[in-house]
Amino acid sequence: MNDPKPLLEARNLTRFYSVSQGMFQSHAEVKALDGVSFQVSAGKTLAVVGESGCGKSTLARQVTMIERATSGQLEFDGFDLVKLTDQQRKEARQRVQMIFQNPFGSLNPRKKVGSIIGEPLVINTALSKPEREERVRTMMGKVGLRPEHYQRYPHMFSGGQRQRIAIARALMLEPKLVVADEPVSALDVSVQAQVLNLLMDIQQEMNLAFLFISHDLSVVRHIADEVLVMYLGKVAEYGATEQIFQQPQHPYTRALLASTPHLKVQNRKEHIVLSGEIPSPLAPPPGCVFHTRCPHANPRCRSEIPLLLSLVGERRVACHGIEEGRI
Ligand SMILES: Nc1ncnc2c1ncn2[C@@H]1O[C@H](COP(=O)(O)OP(=O)(O)O)[C@@H](O)[C@H]1O
Ligand SMILES: [Mg+2]
Repeated sequence: MNDPKPLLEARNLTRFYSVSQGMFQSHAEVKALDGVSFQVSAGKTLAVVGESGCGKSTLARQVTMIERATSGQLEFDGFDLVKLTDQQRKEARQRVQMIFQNPFGSLNPRKKVGSIIGEPLVINTALSKPEREERVRTMMGKVGLRPEHYQRYPHMFSGGQRQRIAIARALMLEPKLVVADEPVSALDVSVQAQVLNLLMDIQQEMNLAFLFISHDLSVVRHIADEVLVMYLGKVAEYGATEQIFQQPQHPYTRALLASTPHLKVQNRKEHIVLSGEIPSPLAPPPGCVFHTRCPHANPRCRSEIPLLLSLVGERRVACHGIEEGRI
């Protein structure tokens, strides 16, 4: 977490969306990302977890330069992603690639697999056609696709194989960072493990860093070095994966773990059940954003925003109850 030169570093990263609402179309702000800080080192995996709507995909859009942050800092491999010139964006974009959740929507159905995978080379390199084909075939082998798949169309493939095609395409320009937004959520459980194993093998081989987004904590345990738990655009807890799983601190992290029944969690202090709806990010609760669903909330939690404080060593938790030692 305190790598002197992380590959990716976010400091107080914020993204608000302006929306109009109601009969009079008054303007309101959705605080999709509200002051998020983290680091990812080269070759490592940071998992970002939290329920739907907590800001995970918004974070992915800032890191992949699809959008520009409202404020804060986001540095990647020497680039300031919040203040890029067009030329810098072009350069930086080759070093960050993205894999999406839906392997059915993200592949052009009219193109053959070979040309889908080779497309980034056409756009970004001066390689000849035979050179491109050779690179595509090498990459297909790495991701477990067979040579005869080169001439086939995406509809002939299963979800897991389509995700392999998407992974191959994302790796063609040898990025340093891959942002994977729920990459296995649409796949059968048996196929999920195969794709996760593939990602881990490739990570080692190519020294890739991953920003791995998932609403499901059980998926990230084996792939992540660190976990960032988000709630309503804010960081609830941030730490090494095994610490998060073995000794979750924030009541929200504990609730997420408790709601994942097939996870064996040691030292589970209590069983917190998440009740009630997630509040609207248009009107986040005052104080700690989690207080409306927290069994430990007291008046301080309802009025004062908790800071993301260091706990033991590198672990960080934003919770008054933990800070006061009453949870
Ligand atoms: N372009 C947008 N305009 C307005 N609100 C948005 C936009 N994109 C996302 N949001 C809102 O920001 C919040 C976070 O969304 P998102 O990042 O998609 O969450 P997640 O990926 O964790 O499910 C949600 O409340 C969502 O409705
Ligand atoms: Mg999302």
